[in-house]
Amino acid sequence: MALDEKQSATGAPPRLKMTDISKSFGGVAALKGVDFTLQAGEIHGLVGENGAGKSTMMKIIAGVHTEYQGSLEIDGKEVHFRSAHDSLAAGISMVHQELSIVSDLTVAENVYLGKQPLNALGLVDWPAMVKGAREQLNNLGIDVDPRMRIGALPIGLQQLIELARVLFSGARIIILDEPTSALSPPEVQRLFEVLRKVRADGRSIVFISHFLDDILSISDAVTIFRNGRHVISHSTEGIDKNWLIEHMIGRGHEGLEESYSGLISLPTRPEGAPVLATQGLSYGRAFADVSLDVRAGEVLGVYGFMGCGQLEFARTLFGKLKPAHGHIELEGKTRTLRNTAQARAAGIAFVPESRRSMLFHHQPLYRNISISILERISRLWLKPGVERKTAQGHIEALHIRPPRVNALLGSLSGGNQQKVALAKWLTHMPKVLILSEPTRGMDVGAKDDVVKIVRDLRDKGLAVIVVSAEPETVLSLADRVVVMKKGRIVREFAAETISKDKLLEAA
Ligand SMILES: Nc1ncnc2c1ncn2[C@@H]1O[C@H](COP(=O)(O)OP(=O)(O)O)[C@@H](O)[C@H]1O
Ligand SMILES: [Mg+2]
Repeated sequence: MALDEKQSATGAPPRLKMTDISKSFGGVAALKGVDFTLQAGEIHGLVGENGAGKSTMMKIIAGVHTEYQGSLEIDGKEVHFRSAHDSLAAGISMVHQELSIVSDLTVAENVYLGKQPLNALGLVDWPAMVKGAREQLNNLGIDVDPRMRIGALPIGLQQLIELARVLFSGARIIILDEPTSALSPPEVQRLFEVLRKVRADGRSIVFISHFLDDILSISDAVTIFRNGRHVISHSTEGIDKNWLIEHMIGRGHEGLEESYSGLISLPTRPEGAPVLATQGLSYGRAFADVSLDVRAGEVLGVYGFMGCGQLEFARTLFGKLKPAHGHIELEGKTRTLRNTAQARAAGIAFVPESRRSMLFHHQPLYRNISISILERISRLWLKPGVERKTAQGHIEALHIRPPRVNALLGSLSGGNQQKVALAKWLTHMPKVLILSEPTRGMDVGAKDDVVKIVRDLRDKGLAVIVVSAEPETVLSLADRVVVMKKGRIVREFAAETISKDKLLEAA
């Protein structure tokens, strides 16, 4: 049954009702007359391709966007939040897609952000805060010293800590904007247990995710946005992933399912000597004795749960970390990479999992795309017309939205920013391209585009290494897969049929 016609069983007004919401940014409509209803004690999945308007809609509820048309009712009473503080006071708490943790604060301070317990003297009660934080984190199965600086922790842990803050804040409406993208399967299961407890208290949750299996397993109902419009809301009973994908992308999607979750046949390896190889590489406690190689025209997937050492491994290949043991060979010659500049000069390119650091948010698209050329040939006098034209070609080929060379990078959705990060390497080809979590937080359409870009680069003779904790990412991109577990390679899959189950099993 479509929820649009459904009456609340008790006749009580919904917990949240948004009607005919429209919102524009500088004349560009992000939401066009959108409705959204959330019941008390409900987990409601919200899905849609990148740029569909999910985050914008939720930021209206969270009091981040205060200028909009339409009405917002909570428990039947119309409200219009003037600030994030207003929204918080009304019992609404949101985990943003972009983590809002404060890296310089401790874990405990982040858990208690804005509401630190005070002692009799009116000072922050540190012992109480550390103890409380430890308890809350334990509830999520997180074992971390609350006195640590949060910025020093891996991103997945940071995300769990932010979740802890929101889940235990007592809010009646909790909005989670892509909370699981950095979490390992066991962490996701722990999060879901907590969400179910929160629901049992009669609190409501909006859960935004591109992981459709997650959406289907945790949500009572689901709403789909497309292009700033509400497509449908439906109970999750009797619907499946294909149904969701059809409504999300509204275009033919033959083969999509297969490439993301079905059986994948790995090809035989291309001929030729390795472009890059590692011999017995080790770094601290992160990883040990890693030997692997990658040839031209091959995509090697390095899969493992978060924290298995794969991120440190990728950084070692790019000269960011110095290995304690072992060595790196490039085209058969041992190379010591003292820093990233040496790695770049040797022809190694790296796109990290946090794209933000690689891109220039206040610069237009064409600048971001041409930057790698400018970096290389610093005195090159590039005609602005040529620069824009090259960029326009990439923007069209990669379906970057909006397709405007002058659009500021910061206004693009995460998926589109990633395409921009990759576009740079189409302009100037390195020998080895290392991608860390290249499709994290992206919808199926954008993922598909990234897959095409990476294949294109591979077919042009690049050796590509994809490091990821997402099985889907590895399955859709890799020609060969090594699995890392607790810092060691435990399995290799080559020229055989693999599946998500096999990867999860090996890790
Ligand atoms: N602060 C902003 N300034 C300008 N444009 C924005 C801003 N936030 C979002 N947009 C635009 O609004 C549209 C919807 O974005 P968003 O709500 O982030 O989508 P989603 O969360 O579904 O991926 C996109 O086209 C995006 O570029
Ligand atoms: Mg979003």
